[in-house]
Parts: sequence; structure tokens; C-alpha cells
Amino acid sequence: MKKRRKFIFVCLGSDCKSNGAKTFVEAIKETINEKHFRGKFKLVKTKCMDCCKSGPVVVVNDHLVKNGDLNQLVKELEME
Ligand code: FES
Repeated sequence: MKKRRKFIFVCLGSDCKSNGAKTFVEAIKETINEKHFRGKFKLVKTKCMDCCKSGPVVVVNDHLVKNGDLNQLVKELEME
């Protein structure tokens, strides 16, 4: 049976955008296209997730990654 990709939900609401969400999205894209993550994740852009003060925010694996912390996100991705 083919394994399904896990979703990464990234907020592109106005507050997250003003805190650098677009740059963060590009960094996430580069990360999930690296050899060991390729084909395992799908990036989904969302509207406000009501955590604006912690933006940019991402939800992966039912965990919230705050403040555009790419290192924390990579740790979550590696738990898969
Ligand atoms: S704008 Fe991203 S959580 Fe509100």
C-alpha cells in the first residue's frame, strides 16, 4: 500500500505575512524537497489560525511550530 504524504499547514494570514511567512514558506519548500524528505510532505497554505502573536506559525503532526522556527519544524518532520 502506498504511503500517504503528511500535511504541513502554514498560515499566510496578514499578521504572519507581515512577520515573514512568505520567506518561511520558501524555506519550508527547500527543506521538504531535500533528498530525505522528498515526497513525504505536502504543504498547505491556510488563513489565520488564531495564533497571530506567535507568527509565522505552522502546524505539523498536530503540533504548532511558532515564530518561524525552521529548526523546530525540522525536528517535527524527522519524527515522522
Ligand atoms: S495571521 Fe497567522 S495565525 Fe493569525
